[in-house]
Amino acid sequence: MSDNKGARIIQFPKIHDPRGNLTFIEGKNHIPFDVKRSFWIYDVPGGEVRGGHAYREGQEVIIALSGSFDVLVDYGDWTQIYNLNRSYLGLYIPNLTWRQMIHFSTNSVALVLASSDYLADDYVHRYAEYLELKKNDSA
Ligand code: TYD
Repeated sequence: MSDNKGARIIQFPKIHDPRGNLTFIEGKNHIPFDVKRSFWIYDVPGGEVRGGHAYREGQEVIIALSGSFDVLVDYGDWTQIYNLNRSYLGLYIPNLTWRQMIHFSTNSVALVLASSDYLADDYVHRYAEYLELKKNDSA
């Protein structure tokens, strides 16, 4: 299956500097949607899982600002695991894409850029409903 409609890694600029490296994100140049909201996940106890849902419309870019974690992307008929461990890489996740964030390292920080305000109704929490929505989407 083509990856075009799926999740993909975005590489942000990295300014190497002996004083410390710097990365920046320009919404219009680096993010495939208008960023409406950012949040970050931190202090994750060992073994915990975040995510475990899809959004009907929402798109996200997930960045491991510090430490590392895995993002398991589940398209219903196949899955892919992205290990995020570089702060100049982001994982773009389109709408209708089930994701779980797992294997957080100690002191990791996950920055998430989102395409919409927080909308509880945009969440798909039931995996069976997700599969149904995916099926209808590709029909
Ligand atoms: P949730 O998205 O369910 O976290 P995760 O999927 O990573 O487990 O959000 C957890 C709680 O935080 C939930 O009660 C809603 C609240 N929340 C907001 O109020 N605003 C936000 O932007 C986000 C992402 C969550």
